[in-house]
Amino acid sequence: MARVALVSGGTRGIGAAIARALSQVGYTVAASYHGNEERAASFHQTTGIPVFRWDVSDYDACVDGISRVEAELGPIDILVNNAGISRDGMFHKMTLAQWNEVIGTNLNGLFNMTHPVWPGMRERGFGRIVNISSINAQKGQLGQVNYSASKAGDLGFTRALALEGASRNITVNAVCPGYTETDMVRAIPPHVMEEKILPQIPVGRLGMPEEIARCVLFLVSDEAGFITGSTLSANGGQHIGG
Ligand code: CAA
Repeated sequence: MARVALVSGGTRGIGAAIARALSQVGYTVAASYHGNEERAASFHQTTGIPVFRWDVSDYDACVDGISRVEAELGPIDILVNNAGISRDGMFHKMTLAQWNEVIGTNLNGLFNMTHPVWPGMRERGFGRIVNISSINAQKGQLGQVNYSASKAGDLGFTRALALEGASRNITVNAVCPGYTETDMVRAIPPHVMEEKILPQIPVGRLGMPEEIARCVLFLVSDEAGFITGSTLSANGGQHIGG
């Protein structure tokens, strides 16, 4: 039986590339999404991957959504916590709502999504969890105090939970993408992208979602059982070291 994988935020951007890559190598995959019904429908149409709508910042919605996925596909072996949002702004202009939204989705979302699948993984003695963090957790980013804090929180979550999962053959790892061709990065003002960001990327280009998906494929494989609590960076050399 193929292992079952759930990718949150799996119908667009990096998440869609991860869902596609997992499906192409034979995993049974489900993708969750929150807002964009149209993109989710076209993703489903082109890939055949089932899509499920809920908000990862809502714990009860996660419990319900995960039970719907498991009823259709079977117990979840692999969870990719990819759903994430940004609400950029300089700290002196940042509102409490911008702070809470980003923490609610990017950090609380990891608790909300992982907590319901954890007991089953422990019982079955197998699990793979990959959390999509960010280069901006590692280096900090002007205009992203909320986002950097949430994504750095994801790394702490990864490291602590890895210790708890180790004896049950559950690995918990993080991937830190750099600036990648997605809607989130396309929303950056063009002058900022051209003048401030691209010159900082040694390979001279943005990453592709498929390049991040390769990292996830590696970490979720049965053969990757010795890799846990780790952070895999894919950022074109923009940030090197911890
Ligand atoms: N790196 C370096 N400098 C940056 C920068 C960046 N990423 N973003 C903005 N700046 C600079 C601007 O060029 C400007 O400098 P100058 O005054 O010298 O021109 C200064 O910071 C202020 O920027 P703005 O004039 O744009 O000020 P604003 O108040 O209108 O907007 C902002 C501020 C909302 C932060 C806007 O600049 C912005 O959206 N910047 C991009 C921030 C960013 O990098 N976000 C990452 C999104 S992608 C992502 O989050 C995915 C991931 O994991 C990597």
